[in-house]
Amino acid sequence: CGIVGYVGATDAEPFLVDGLRRLEYRGYDSSGVAIHCGESIHVTRAVGRIQALADRLGPTPRSGAVGLGHTRWATHGPPTETNAHPHVGGDGEVVLVHNGVIENFQELKDQLTAKGYSFKSATDSEVIAHLIAEGLKVTPDNLDQPNTKYVTAVQWAIAQLRGTYGLAVLFRDRPGLMVAARFGSPLVLGVGRGEFFVASDASPIAGRTDRIVYLADHQVAVLTKDGFSVLHKDQGKIRVDIQPLSVESNDVDLAGFPHYMLKEIHEQPESLRNAMRGRLDDENATAVFGGLNMTPQQIRTVRRIILTGCGTSWHSALVGEYMIEELARIPVSVEYASELRYRNPPIENDTLVFGITQSGETADTLAAIRETKRKGHRTLAINNVVGSSIAQAADGGIYLHAGPEIGVASTKAYTSQCCVLAMLALYFGRMRHLSFESGQRIIEELRMLPNAVAEALRCDATVKEIAAKYHEASTFLYLGRQYNFPTALEGALKLKEISYIHAEGYPAAEMKHGPIALVDEHTPSVFIVPKGTTYDKVLANMEEVKARGGPIIAIASQDDPQVQKIADDVITIPDAPGLTQPIVSIVPLQLLSYHIALLRGCDVDKPRNLAKSVTVE
Ligand code: G6P
Repeated sequence: CGIVGYVGATDAEPFLVDGLRRLEYRGYDSSGVAIHCGESIHVTRAVGRIQALADRLGPTPRSGAVGLGHTRWATHGPPTETNAHPHVGGDGEVVLVHNGVIENFQELKDQLTAKGYSFKSATDSEVIAHLIAEGLKVTPDNLDQPNTKYVTAVQWAIAQLRGTYGLAVLFRDRPGLMVAARFGSPLVLGVGRGEFFVASDASPIAGRTDRIVYLADHQVAVLTKDGFSVLHKDQGKIRVDIQPLSVESNDVDLAGFPHYMLKEIHEQPESLRNAMRGRLDDENATAVFGGLNMTPQQIRTVRRIILTGCGTSWHSALVGEYMIEELARIPVSVEYASELRYRNPPIENDTLVFGITQSGETADTLAAIRETKRKGHRTLAINNVVGSSIAQAADGGIYLHAGPEIGVASTKAYTSQCCVLAMLALYFGRMRHLSFESGQRIIEELRMLPNAVAEALRCDATVKEIAAKYHEASTFLYLGRQYNFPTALEGALKLKEISYIHAEGYPAAEMKHGPIALVDEHTPSVFIVPKGTTYDKVLANMEEVKARGGPIIAIASQDDPQVQKIADDVITIPDAPGLTQPIVSIVPLQLLSYHIALLRGCDVDKPRNLAKSVTVE
């Protein structure tokens, strides 16, 4: 879910709606805004995309310079208008928006119901609104400092919550005041001149002010148009750092592309250059990273690496496993963050744990990092969003510098993650026994990568034709080996996410042990079969599928008559040696899913039921 808030001198509504559009990638099943109109707070909600809310609000903004907004990804209760935020507490004296999950909501709901509060929605969030209203009742007035009562009521309420929250709250009887609170769900403040902003991340604020505060857990912010203060649960009023905000607002424009996903696919040559900028050290034939916060000696004593993440980031971890084991000879295990956080595996000393996440906000990845850190292991983040929660939680890390990724299906962040992992493998390798010459060769291969990806993008027209031929299929198999096994998984995930076609990625040889039973003339198999070590073996697997009448789409090297002979359709990619190969071979698969989804009339950037940042576990 995404939250925005505004306290200032001009009408809040235009900022709120624009801010929600920029946060829509965090969830988009319903949305709403609340505007303080002086006497009362006016709430407007709508089911569906932000546009539905904008249509309902109409062209003329309601007058009111204090307001908040929310875009939802349903956790408790279906996406109906009643379940949409903002939620109203008491008899209308409290209005709030919430991101997160309240685990003890049923218990609190029962207590509040017994006290006479009536609930309109099925959400856990409405409980917080009523609880704060109850807090107002039990908190005495403070005539010298009238805001204190309201802040105390919020603190009283959140002290009873179990779970996670990012909150922004308005009070009917205190028109110029907004209170925001954070525990486990991100929240930032934008510091303007005579106006202040609240948001789940920096994107709504970019272009409005260049000064930002990243709230930490257990902090409560108190905002009026004259200023803001931050309180900590135990320490009372605290000083916070105001940091420069570097995101340009036009980074989130479409730049002439019909969809963010297509734009981001095409940005990959540039995002890869940015991932490598300043990090390749020719003199020592290695990579350099500023933010690992580890001495060379500490790096040399690492005996095991755990790579953890969710979704596409988990796939890049699988690619990283091959890379690091090959170049650095350090054992690597890849873990789903959601499993790692609860499985409590034995982790030896000298183990390094990397959390890989585009957003830096995925609840499970964050929790896995916190949990392993608590047990004394060194944790590092590979992350795209500067100042994100994981960047703050880990001991150090590497930024992707891919620029904002808006399309829900990850593309450029994935290739940048793979690229960073390749550089890490090189770095660890050169700290151990990888030769200078091998280091040089890898640097050379990495340098060629952006151009190879640019060349791979030229397959677009061919991919479009292939998409037209197969877009009505109901199941796809994706098959590859070694570095291209994760490519198969990621290609299948891309298709599933945005076209709603069932797709399975498998190691090509493993296909014989089950998936081959799915093969028939209606089930296309996508083979990733560029020239390389397992090329002949994959050709044999292609023959096995062909023998059973399955259509074959091959991602292959240029001028490969053998593949041409077996496959029904071929998409060629430039030669990319060794560890750069998966970064090139994923490009046609990203495009294939894009074109198939378009032909099926799907919403490419905002596929149903998904969200870009899953901030609940
Ligand atoms: C969601 C998105 C996926 C993404 C995953 C992990 O499920 O829809 O595209 O791969 O979260 O996100 P992260 O920001 O941690 O990489």
